[in-house]
Amino acid sequence: MKKFDKPIYVTRPFLPPLEEFTEGLKEIWGSHLLTNRGPILRRYEQRLSEFFDTPNVCLFNNGTLALQIALQAMGISGEVITTPFTFVATTHALYWNKIRPVFVDIEPDYYTLDPEAVEAAITPWTTAILAVHVYGHPCKLDALAEIARRHNLRLIYDAAHAFGVTVDGKSICHFGDMSLFSFHATKLYHSIEGGMLSFQDAGLKITLDYLKNFGFKNETEVVMPGTNAKMNEFQALMGILVLRHLDGLIERARKIDAVYRKRLKEVPGIKFPPTQPNNVAYNYAYEPVEIIEEEFGMSRDALYQKLKEFNVHSRRYFYPLLCDYACYQGLSVKDPLIVSRRVAERILTLPIYDDLKIAEVEMICDIIQQIHNDLG
Ligand SMILES: Cc1ncc(COP(=O)(O)O)c(C=O)c1O
Repeated sequence: MKKFDKPIYVTRPFLPPLEEFTEGLKEIWGSHLLTNRGPILRRYEQRLSEFFDTPNVCLFNNGTLALQIALQAMGISGEVITTPFTFVATTHALYWNKIRPVFVDIEPDYYTLDPEAVEAAITPWTTAILAVHVYGHPCKLDALAEIARRHNLRLIYDAAHAFGVTVDGKSICHFGDMSLFSFHATKLYHSIEGGMLSFQDAGLKITLDYLKNFGFKNETEVVMPGTNAKMNEFQALMGILVLRHLDGLIERARKIDAVYRKRLKEVPGIKFPPTQPNNVAYNYAYEPVEIIEEEFGMSRDALYQKLKEFNVHSRRYFYPLLCDYACYQGLSVKDPLIVSRRVAERILTLPIYDDLKIAEVEMICDIIQQIHNDLG
């Protein structure tokens, strides 16, 4: 069996044509405005506002700080119900606001928060639900909205993976009180590093703008103890350029996903999430599969290691569960997290990125098939 002669990583940032970027650099060199709400950032915010069809957007230098600031601006405190099956930043943002994360289980198809588990975990101290559209899979939007409404909780979505996803023709950002998007280089859509909040309450914009810029109202007035979370002009330029290519990025990822699903369907012990229902336009940002050891013949961890021998570098997103990291082990977790634990033990995300060739996807599938066949 052949191996790749160069490493195939789980992702590889898309870069727009270099001429497009250098053209934009001329504007920066002309203005000498590198950051602090420069003209490119203002243009970018306008583009995103059109893209998401809402005036309520605010840009940040990364998604983590955006989420931290969102929680602070909304005055969230006490306990927040959240998922243990996500990237660490989701929970860290709670911790930095001195909020207690309450981890509850996920549902088995798309790995998003299980609404029943959410409802069971509500206490008098609960103030919000922080749900994650993990891999870009929309959460159970109606059920979570209903729970939030009945219990008077704020509903915040970590949509870090969900850029470009729509539900019933509406951007995913229109659900819940607040959504966070990450534009980190590893994401399908990126601005090198970056983050964006979208929100329903237009009144939050001014607080978010203060908080990301040290709390400055003007030259002499600081109205709150803010931090520095501003996006710079280079990030904004990259963000504008990558946005032009978004449709192509999603379309090529869709084709890659179709090949994986077609080719690996026949391999025992490889389980894909169901395809999204017709009312969802998905972004194909990740390619998660569950490896069912008893059927595949090898554990997820063994396959993960074996693939490296072929120069295929998959990732175990998201393993371990957040509650198992040393920094959160002290938290008591009442929910047995049965599905989360099972999925974290089985999940493997396969390479998917813009210039991954279909022939390379076919070869990754051949390798996985061959590894299984060799087990006898
Ligand atoms: C689910 C999730 N939340 C939050 C973040 C934090 O975003 P950033 O890397 O832009 O700080 C990320 C990605 O990195 C993420 O995957």
